[in-house]
Amino acid sequence: MTAQLNARGDVAVLVPAAGSGVRLGPGAPKALRLLAGEPLLVHAVRRVAAAPSVRMIVVAAPAAEVAAVRALLEPVAPVVVLAGGAERQDSVAAMLAAVPADVEIVLVHDAARALTPPELVESVATAVRDGHPAVIPVLPIVDTVKEVGPDETVVGTVDRSVLRSVQTPQGFRHDVLAAAHRAGLDAHTDDAGMVEKAGTPVLCVPGSDLALKITRPLDLVIAEALLRVA
Ligand code: CTP
Ligand code: MG
Repeated sequence: MTAQLNARGDVAVLVPAAGSGVRLGPGAPKALRLLAGEPLLVHAVRRVAAAPSVRMIVVAAPAAEVAAVRALLEPVAPVVVLAGGAERQDSVAAMLAAVPADVEIVLVHDAARALTPPELVESVATAVRDGHPAVIPVLPIVDTVKEVGPDETVVGTVDRSVLRSVQTPQGFRHDVLAAAHRAGLDAHTDDAGMVEKAGTPVLCVPGSDLALKITRPLDLVIAEALLRVA
């Protein structure tokens, strides 16, 4: 059944899905790979659409797959599908241009974080609505982290308590994200990194184990297991 989005919602969610998935190995573009019989992108969009304050979903698909992705998502939720760019940030810029000015909150997600629960989408949006211009979901780092020199010798042990591992969706006031994009794209930063550079405070909120990024073949195995328990 097609989800209804909330016409009175104040959130647009951008879902970059135009990558090829090189690290997952040969096959279809990553967002179209199957997890428990359904493409990752379907899992991702279904969960985003279930978040109550989402008014609009925009997906960036590989240029050759735009029509196929439109057809694929038609029964899932009302979604604007457009062609992505060469880098993730080009895909985000193309999607951002499709968001009407009166949508106040923009979340930038990853199709690869296919099992991200609607509650996380909502908690990031809520924090932006509560006055934080930029919000990222994070998890603590579990491993000990070492700094190493060029010869792989340990330079020191990093204080893990001040480090976080960052997930998506990352949430922004629409004007803040648009200004960061206008200021220029740097391929080496995430969405929040662009805003950070402009001096805007970025708030961390608790992330979710379910929001893991499916990157390598093992992640697909983990995601299938998570689907059985979540
Ligand atoms: N993405 C995109 N446009 C690009 C590159 C990536 O929309 N030009 C999307 C991917 O589809 C993915 C998200 O950005 O949903 C995060 O990127 P990543 O996990 O790196 O996916 P891929 O780039 O597809 O994977 P890889 O780097 O292994 O090729
Ligand atoms: Mg990539």
